[in-house]
Amino acid sequence: MHINEVKIENFRNIDFMGIFPHKEINVIYGQNGQGKTNLLEAIWLFTGCKSFRNSKDSELVQFERENSRISLSFETELRENNAAIFIDKKRTANLNGINLSSPRELIGKYYAVVFSPIHLSLIKDGPINRRKFIDTAISQIDNMYAKKLMYFNHLIQQKNALLKNAVENPSLLDTLDVWDEKIALSGAEIISDRINYIKKLKSKATEIYNGISGEKEELDIKYLSNVRYESEEKKDIARIYFESLKKHRPNDLYLKNTTSGPHRDDIEILINNISARKFGSQGQQRSASLSLKLGEAEIIKDLKGEHPIILLDDVMSELDITRQNYILNKMTEKQVFITCCEKETVSRLHAGKVFKIENGKAVD
Ligand SMILES: Nc1ncnc2c1ncn2[C@@H]1O[C@H](COP(=O)(O)OP(=O)(O)OP(=O)(O)O)[C@@H](O)[C@H]1O
Ligand SMILES: [Mg+2]
Repeated sequence: MHINEVKIENFRNIDFMGIFPHKEINVIYGQNGQGKTNLLEAIWLFTGCKSFRNSKDSELVQFERENSRISLSFETELRENNAAIFIDKKRTANLNGINLSSPRELIGKYYAVVFSPIHLSLIKDGPINRRKFIDTAISQIDNMYAKKLMYFNHLIQQKNALLKNAVENPSLLDTLDVWDEKIALSGAEIISDRINYIKKLKSKATEIYNGISGEKEELDIKYLSNVRYESEEKKDIARIYFESLKKHRPNDLYLKNTTSGPHRDDIEILINNISARKFGSQGQQRSASLSLKLGEAEIIKDLKGEHPIILLDDVMSELDITRQNYILNKMTEKQVFITCCEKETVSRLHAGKVFKIENGKAVD
């Protein structure tokens, strides 16, 4: 998949910008604070997901403007598409002239993968970001998964409310078995989907990391569940999860919270068999999170037959020349937008277009 044209109006510091990107490499360079990441953010929004900077939609509209509009023409194997996003108090979208009931309907029509410095938290920070990464990645390729996840979270909320209300109304506790059964079945679906995704991701990301590190280091990824299932059969996971919910019940009643299940799981990322989070260097952590993201892109390609648009924000800093070269060489046959401060950083890329961004405008 590739973008033929982007038009942006009243978005962050961009009054108006219209560009015709190259089919493969697009280098976006300029000084700090000029609007490079803003451009990537606009292109990202067509995935139907939230901003990768975790901003609210209202923060995306240019200061002192009422609303913002972004349009994109993008080409898939099948056809040329025109999509537009309109951001007012909330975000709405249309695709090929048809208004969508929600921007999330763009999921499955348009694919992008983004790597920005924020994604280093994938390795460095606590498990929430890693769960969010895997949940977003699976949701992009499987729209049933997002629904399953919403249902599971709903069950957990309902059960936690029950645990609180039971103080005044102890008869509510009679229904706990029923809730735990539902939670176990629904949670097993989530765990099983995540296990399968991690298997695919591991095979892609370890190969990419191998290349980035010049075969000197090895990446490993493991799904770490607090549900101690013995086999990966959904039925088995559900049974063990149900037992675990029962075992934790006295503690959960005390805390008024459900403490076991996939909402507490994590992904372990190892470099040469030691934790990347605890012991990895900055360059290693960056290489590992980048490998996960590029692995995600390859899974989309395998399943959907289309390369997603690849957005790389400030990816080169902290990487040595060997690592930089590998990444640059990996970027053929797909459309890539890569930002940096000095265009010399990517001068080793011969084909493609270069855009200089200054004060919210493309000046080259
Ligand atoms: N809603 C908004 N309205 C107007 N300007 C905004 C808005 N949100 C952010 N900005 C401005 O956009 C600029 C930041 O742009 P951006 O993050 O794209 O910079 P950048 O070129 O990626 O810089 P760096 O190299 O430091 O990453 C800031 O100057 C910020 O004040
Ligand atoms: Mg930036």
